[in-house]
Amino acid sequence: MKWKTRVSELLDCEYPILQGALSRIGNWKFAASVSEAGAHGCLTAAVSLTPQNLRDDIRRCKDATDKPFSVNITVGMCPHIDEMLEVCLEEGIEVIETAVFSADQYGKRIKEAGRKWIHKTATLKHALHAEKQGADAVMLVGLEGIGFKNISQLPTMTTIAWAAAHMKVPIIAAGGIGDARTFLGALALGAEGVMMGTAFMATQECPISDRFKEKMVQASPDNPHLRTTVLAPPNPREYEEVMKKRGEMPLEKWLTALERVMLKHDDWRLAPEMWNEDYDRLSSLMSFAVTYVDHIPTVKEFVDSIIENAEKIMNNWQFLRE
Ligand SMILES: Cc1cc2nc3c(=O)[nH]c(=O)nc-3n(C[C@H](O)[C@H](O)[C@H](O)COP(=O)(O)O)c2cc1C
Repeated sequence: MKWKTRVSELLDCEYPILQGALSRIGNWKFAASVSEAGAHGCLTAAVSLTPQNLRDDIRRCKDATDKPFSVNITVGMCPHIDEMLEVCLEEGIEVIETAVFSADQYGKRIKEAGRKWIHKTATLKHALHAEKQGADAVMLVGLEGIGFKNISQLPTMTTIAWAAAHMKVPIIAAGGIGDARTFLGALALGAEGVMMGTAFMATQECPISDRFKEKMVQASPDNPHLRTTVLAPPNPREYEEVMKKRGEMPLEKWLTALERVMLKHDDWRLAPEMWNEDYDRLSSLMSFAVTYVDHIPTVKEFVDSIIENAEKIMNNWQFLRE
C-alpha cells in the first residue's frame, strides 16, 4: 500500500509519520534513524545549544541519511532562535517546524526563504491562526499528549475531528498516538499524518537510559499519577496571573514564567537540573502513548509494526469489500 497523503508529499517520506521534537533528546543521530526508517525525523535545535553546533549537527545528520529531516525551533525554549533559524535556511533544511508560542515572524522568514513551514500548537484557534499566516501544515497536540499544555486544550479525538472540519492545510495529529490503531484513528479523524514523541522515546536508538525505557514498558495510562499529570490542563488562575504580567518584564523572563504554568507539573519544572543525570526521577515525562509500549524495538521495527498492523487491520475490515 502506498501511504501517500499531503503530509508525506510535503515531507517527502514513505509514511506520514513524524518524530516529535524532544528537548535534551532529539539529536541528529536519532532524527537520522527515524528518517532512515521511512518516517520523518526531527532534529530539535535546542539540543544543539549554539548555532555552530546546529550547523555541525545538520551536516552530521545529512551524512547519516540521504532522506529529508526537519528541524524544530521551539519558541521560548530554543536559544539564539534567530541565528538558529538562519542556520537551518543556510544549510538547506526544506521543512522547519516552529512550536508553542506565536511564531508568526519565524513563519514569515521561513516562507520568504521559499521553505516549508509547519507550526505545532494545542488548539484549533492557534492552528487556524498559523494557517492564515501561511503555514504549510499544522500539528495539533491533544490532551493525551505530553509537553506544553494549553488552558483550552481538548482530547485528541475532539481536537482533530473539529480541526478537520475547519482547516484547509493538512493536519498532523499528536497526543497519545503510538500504535497502528491510534495511527489509523487519527487518519480517520481527518489528519493526514501523525507525530509521536513518547512512542519514539521507547525505541533502542533513543538516547535516554534503559531504566527510563523500562519504566515506559511498565507504565499504564490508568496509573492515577500519570493520568492526572497528562490530562490535567494548566491551572486557570496561574495562567491568568502570568498573562497579566506580559509586557511587565523582559520577554525571555516572561516566557520562562509562562512555561512554568504551561508545562504545569513539578517533574518538568525540575527537569533542567535533572535531565542529564537522572532520567528515572522524571517519571511523568511520558504520555498516554505508553499504553502501547510493551517492549523496546528499534526505530525501524517500530515504524514497520505500525504500517504492517495498520494494513492488517484494514484488510480485516470486511465492510470495505461488501
Ligand atoms: C521529553 C520530551 C521533550 C519534549 N520537548 C519538546 C520540545 O522541545 N519542543 C516541542 O515542540 N515539543 C516537545 N515535546 C513534545 C513532543 O514533541 C510532542 O508534541 C508530544 O510528545 C506529543 O505527544 P505524545 O508524547 O503523546 O506523542 C517533548 C516531549 C517529550 C516527551
